[in-house]
Amino acid sequence: MTGQIIGTGACVPEKVINNQELEGLVETSDAWIQERTGIERRHIAVKETTVSMAAKAASEALKEAELPPEQIDLILVSTMSPEEIMPCTACKVQREIGASRAVCFDLSAACSGFVMAYVTACAYIEAGIFQNILVIGSECLSNVTDWSDRGTCILFGDGAGAAVLTAAEETKYLPSIYSDGSRGGALTLKSRQNHNPFGKEAPAGDEGTSYYIEMDGQAIFKFAVRSIPQAVEEVLRKNHLHKSDIRYYVLHQANERIVEAVAKRLGEPAYKFPMNMKEYGNTSSASIPLLIHEMKEKNMLHSGDRLVLAGFGGGLTWGTAIITWK
Ligand code: UT7
Repeated sequence: MTGQIIGTGACVPEKVINNQELEGLVETSDAWIQERTGIERRHIAVKETTVSMAAKAASEALKEAELPPEQIDLILVSTMSPEEIMPCTACKVQREIGASRAVCFDLSAACSGFVMAYVTACAYIEAGIFQNILVIGSECLSNVTDWSDRGTCILFGDGAGAAVLTAAEETKYLPSIYSDGSRGGALTLKSRQNHNPFGKEAPAGDEGTSYYIEMDGQAIFKFAVRSIPQAVEEVLRKNHLHKSDIRYYVLHQANERIVEAVAKRLGEPAYKFPMNMKEYGNTSSASIPLLIHEMKEKNMLHSGDRLVLAGFGGGLTWGTAIITWK
């Protein structure tokens, strides 16, 4: 018994910003961005929010699953760009879609968030605690992007992806998930610190300061290219599977060169590594469910196909999980 995906959905903002439009903001070029990242455009929220995109993706996933929202036991949202810290995004999605019976909470594991949320959902199902779970990755990264930093602003986009998991008599696969807090400084998004009356001062210049994603791009690049192939090999080994058993590797969509380098290190052909960062940029925890949804819409997924999901990012966090398509 484990969780099986029976519905997926996605939502991206209407407004599309291509690379040329960023040339007016920072010293960059369409050619540099395409060559170094594979990104051509990204969707940026104007009217949409982390909650509205999550709710839209969730409703689409529920429709395909043919489940009324009242039958959802748990809503688990992965996000690092919530509208508010409290109430959590999952509770707001509950209100939007009318999933009145659901338990709701958010999970924070940056770009590994969807894999961590998927693994958490499966663990709840395998433990017999919940039957139907909505797992969502939703990000409005444009709210936390420093639009004057060319090292990051060319990378990110907004969007949401959702999956409905239900308890099914399917093979249970062990995940390979990891964290290394000692290297967390390479990718950060700080939040405001207030003073307290017991001696803690707010950091100098903190008043009214906004915080943005800061990244040592090369360090993250190297970390991803080294750790993901190891995590893939490990998840295959512990589940007694071989590369030939895997139809697709669905990697977090951060950079085309990272995906290509992982494929090369694994000695696997490029066609097993679908990509869509060209259209959406890096949408953090939304990237994997957005890609799965797109693959489904393109009829790339068939019953029994085994996929390896692989996330990596801030924390540092990374990991792999295996799913069997319905
Ligand atoms: O979601 C999970 C976390 N994120 C990631 O996985 C991102 C991982 N990192 C990356 O994708 C890449 O490191 C970046 C795309 C961020 C940067 O690519 P890079 O090939 O590592 O470039 P670099 O930082 O080594 O910079 C090369 C050059 C530098 O100029 P000099 O020193 O050679 O003169 C940069 O200043 O490119 C310059 N540069 C740019 N030029 C034009 C950096 N950003 C830009 C830019 N446009 N946007």
